[in-house]
Amino acid sequence: MKGVQCFAALVLLALAFSFATAYDPSPLQDFCVDLNDTNSAVFVNGKFCKDPKLAKAEDFFFSGLDKAGNTSNPVGSMVTPVNIMQIAGLNTLGISMARIDFAPNGGLNPPHTHPRGTEIVVMVEGTLHVGFVTSNTDNRLFTKVLNKGDVFVFPIGLIHFQLNIGNTPAIAIAAFSSQNPGVITIANAVFGSNPTISPDILAKAFQLDKNVVQYLQSQF
Ligand SMILES: *[C@@H]1O[C@H](CO)[C@@H](O)[C@H](O)[C@H]1NC(C)=O
Ligand SMILES: *[C@@H]1O[C@H](CO)[C@@H](O)[C@H](O)[C@H]1NC(C)=O
Repeated sequence: MKGVQCFAALVLLALAFSFATAYDPSPLQDFCVDLNDTNSAVFVNGKFCKDPKLAKAEDFFFSGLDKAGNTSNPVGSMVTPVNIMQIAGLNTLGISMARIDFAPNGGLNPPHTHPRGTEIVVMVEGTLHVGFVTSNTDNRLFTKVLNKGDVFVFPIGLIHFQLNIGNTPAIAIAAFSSQNPGVITIANAVFGSNPTISPDILAKAFQLDKNVVQYLQSQF
């Protein structure tokens, strides 16, 4: 009887571990270059991979992160991603990066979340006010002012933002624990969905007048 209970406990433990690692699994081979043309491909981890014999240095290469993103837009920031879409060789490797440019005096990377990746940023130029909010357990806000050389972490899935509080352009380089961390910009998803979420739902959820909700929806 003891043995059965012990076995059950082990099975539960194994299940718990398998749930805890249910995203971006570790690669089971050196690499798996993403490939569209399935004629010369092998199948690994749910994706087609280029035959390793045909892989080349370009599959692991991207050029252009020295170039500033165009921040002439309503929020005053631009993300230049370097993930599986830009580097096919990142497939199954569980890592990617991005450059984020901020216009002087208020360039904002608005509240958003990466559903599949933790983010770590290093400040290259300028000064940012950054923050993230914990989940509904207590919705606690963590903030920090970052200067050149500073590093900050945004844990996976948590809503976060970055605001340029300096009067010069700001540049941050971000790394992610996913080949494709994804991004959900809260305002766009909630007020800019296609088709729109019923204003009645949003009026109730945000305790707003329906006209205010319709005004916000018209901004997207
Ligand atoms: C794969 O195909 C899609 C759709 O045709 C295209 O947008 C994308 O650039 C292709 N990716 C690669 C790595 O060739
Ligand atoms: C930046 O974006 C704005 C708005 O889309 C555009 O008018 C402008 O030409 C762009 N600047 C550069 C250097 O591409």
